[in-house]
Amino acid sequence: MKIKKIMVVGAGIMGSGIAQVCIEAGFDTLLVDMSDEIAKNGKEKITHFLSRKVEKGKLTQIQVDEMLLKLSVSGKYEDGKDSDLVIEAVAENIELKKSIFKSLDEVCKPETILATNTSTISITLIAAATKRPDKVIGMHFFVPAPTMKLIEVIPGLLTNDEVKKIAWDISIALGKTPAMAQDTSAFIVNRLLVPMWNEAMFLVMEGTEPKDVWNGKAF
Ligand SMILES: NC(=O)c1ccc[n+]([C@@H]2O[C@H](COP(=O)([O-])OP(=O)(O)OC[C@H]3O[C@@H](n4cnc5c(N)ncnc54)[C@H](O)[C@@H]3O)[C@@H](O)[C@H]2O)c1
Repeated sequence: MKIKKIMVVGAGIMGSGIAQVCIEAGFDTLLVDMSDEIAKNGKEKITHFLSRKVEKGKLTQIQVDEMLLKLSVSGKYEDGKDSDLVIEAVAENIELKKSIFKSLDEVCKPETILATNTSTISITLIAAATKRPDKVIGMHFFVPAPTMKLIEVIPGLLTNDEVKKIAWDISIALGKTPAMAQDTSAFIVNRLLVPMWNEAMFLVMEGTEPKDVWNGKAF
């Protein structure tokens, strides 16, 4: 399946960043939040960040205008029912994510791939809220999404091979570098980072100055 239209659910820090990545890569994108108003705020944030790219000479105003034409906003998932790919980026709450995936499953066309940007929640658990667990996958972007290159692609237990390949290929089409992760607690990057943060705190508790821990991190 060729991905042409993407719906991003959640217009917060990650969702608006992901929607920006999608329009910069040329995809028709719908940004959805709980109300039109919140979704519009997301579009305003994107417009602001793209204008800064114009000021820095990274994009022309004509390019930005063309990108913004590809972006619509809404307070209803139904407006994105014909999307080929949904990327969910609402708060990190399992019950919220399960209820949104249940609704997306009911609303979206049968072929739509449902991806989640969760940092920690099992993809298999989220997929179980739908009747299409074979089409559910993790696509974990990092903050700020427009500049961070990595996307962890995380298949659930039942994700099919075609969906894995599409998620991998679309990550590249979005200008990112994918890494295939297992559906294990905190995937790859946070699994590595969190112990390092803990050790940094232990060092400070044991008397090392925070600035020295920071400098030591650059090793
Ligand atoms: N912030 C980060 O550093 C970061 C990095 C990587 C991944 N993540 C993950 O991305 C996801 C989103 O995080 P964030 O920091 O962008 O959160 P955020 O709080 O900035 O944004 C969440 C958005 O979801 C919206 N929302 C809540 N319920 C909704 C609903 N029912 N329908 C539609 N929209 C709804 C909220 O209105 C809000 O705009 C989380 O799963 C988080 O773990 C966050």
